Amino acid sequence: MMPHKIFLKKIFVVAVLFLCCCSPSLLLPTAADVSSANKKWANEDSVSLRHGYELYVNKCGACHTLYRPTKFTEEKWMKEVPAMGPRANLTPAQTEIILRYVLTRREVMLAQKNN
Ligand code: HEC
Repeated sequence: MMPHKIFLKKIFVVAVLFLCCCSPSLLLPTAADVSSANKKWANEDSVSLRHGYELYVNKCGACHTLYRPTKFTEEKWMKEVPAMGPRANLTPAQTEIILRYVLTRREVMLAQKNN
């Protein structure tokens, strides 16, 4: 990719984040996310949560805004993310990574009353 294209892509990602109903920092996984995720899944770490965040931002905001993780219930996310995977051309593994990221961020935002 040409350097200016990378630059444009960065601007695009930042613009999408600002269009999102929540501020960009709200979507970033934190240390609290890692410990929360580890209560549910053994191998979840900051790298996979960060990967989920990047996939979510890059793949899930193309057709509609990026939904705030606290906007929907856990059940709704568990239904919608797998349904959206094929639309976003994701592999089942990528879909699972996004689902774990969103569910984790949701729990942490609710716990911190940061919603
Ligand atoms: C190709 C376009 C497209 C992509 C990419 C896409 N979506 Fe969607 N999404 C839609 C459409 C259209 C709807 C409206 C309901 C329907 O048709 O199912 C929707 C609905 C939703 C809903 C339900 C919203 C509501 O108010 O009930 C959620 C949640 C959602 N998408 C999450 C995601 C996630 C997470 C991703 C990334 C994995 C994603 N979407 C990627 C098109 C897309």
